Amino acid sequence: MSRNRAATDWHPASWESKVAAQQATYPDKAALERVVADLSRLPPIVTSWEVDALKDEIARAQRGEAFILQGGDCAETFDECTSEDIVAKLKILLQMSLVMLFGMKKPVVRVGRMAGQYAKPRSADIETRNGESLPSFRGDLVNRSPFTSADRVPDPSLILRGYERAALTLNFVRSLIDGGFADLHHPEYWDLGWVGHSPMADEYHKIVASISDSLDFLETISGSPVHKTRRADIYAAHEGLHLHYEQAQTRYLDRRQRWYDLTTHFPWIGMRTAAMDGAHVEFFRGIANPIGIKIGPGMTRDWLQDLIRVLNPNNEPGRLTLIHRFGAKSVEDHLPEMISAVKETGSPVLWVSDPMHGNTESTPDGVKTRRFDNILSELESSFRVHESMGSHLGGVHLELTGDNVTECTGGARGLTDGDLARAYKSTVDPRLNYEQAMEIAMRISGLHKSQFKSA
Ligand code: PEP
Ligand code: CO
Repeated sequence: MSRNRAATDWHPASWESKVAAQQATYPDKAALERVVADLSRLPPIVTSWEVDALKDEIARAQRGEAFILQGGDCAETFDECTSEDIVAKLKILLQMSLVMLFGMKKPVVRVGRMAGQYAKPRSADIETRNGESLPSFRGDLVNRSPFTSADRVPDPSLILRGYERAALTLNFVRSLIDGGFADLHHPEYWDLGWVGHSPMADEYHKIVASISDSLDFLETISGSPVHKTRRADIYAAHEGLHLHYEQAQTRYLDRRQRWYDLTTHFPWIGMRTAAMDGAHVEFFRGIANPIGIKIGPGMTRDWLQDLIRVLNPNNEPGRLTLIHRFGAKSVEDHLPEMISAVKETGSPVLWVSDPMHGNTESTPDGVKTRRFDNILSELESSFRVHESMGSHLGGVHLELTGDNVTECTGGARGLTDGDLARAYKSTVDPRLNYEQAMEIAMRISGLHKSQFKSA
């Protein structure tokens, strides 16, 4: 059933009548309104047919016929909107997806945490240093990170700067993909020196060799490169946190008789903004995009069922993705109840594991990190719990980078806390580096195989 424009209870700004958690307080309201008006006149970043195509892909993944790989930075930064950074992010996502495609023998749908992942929730509105209190840094879309009052005051012009960078990012990604991105077809050119450092080296070498052989074989019989990705083959996603940003590009499409948030294909609701009576749930219920909801240990059975009823009242396939992030230690305790709560609703959902956000810890020196083994362990448990309950894990959500950073510990090279200082770049959450991300992709293929072997 379509959400009719004439329906009076929802419009792109109806969220304003609710409590909006995690929003910046702009001192100059008139300037904010001007920016929202300016932004709403710009062309959209994505189109409704791409959004619908992703919804179809998610519906396939819900049926077990495809797998979703969602990955990227915790927060994109304006400084890293460079060709090198974008190439590196695209490369790691494409290479991981190829490993997973060959391992799982099913299509892998790539979704970047990119082209708009600029706003962050914070645990406190105010940060105090040496007796001085200033607004917390909320991401490049909102304010600037240096600890001065001029930098920390929310600046509405950053909303436009962020939108422009999001558009530049996706534009470049699309051009690279159209150009073929040759690197993808030649695993022999991938940076795989790390493989020899792993106890699983033999297995990893076999995976890479089998990808090369399969590609050669397919190219020989078809006479053309096999992996000609089409434009829409990488989708964009970000946390739909900053509601003025989302609202400004939300359009009613007469042809479809629905509202679309055209800042991105796939916005998600973060863990801190999923209150039933809150502004985010109000905004998200009115848009036609496929949407994600992060669920953590605080989620209850009733709350989850209420979210599903409000956000997917017609049980539409492809509409809802539940991204669970319980932590390696809690996933076995919490996930079964969530799965049974969803079953009771009869609504189709895609289950995705985010093995990052429940596994963040601080070193004795106060550096935020995550251990590779905990990330892997949450993934293993997630596959297992789903399988044991007659459900299935249809995707993963990872914070990663194509760079050689040292932010998470462990992995084939056995990074330790002592390595973190060497190349720690994230200003927010720690990401898997290139090698760790590739290793996770190889492990996921194996885990997925065991989930489906009995099917
Ligand atoms: C995030 O994805 O960066 C994030 C803040 O996650 P969560 O809402 O799950 O804590
Ligand atoms: Co994060």
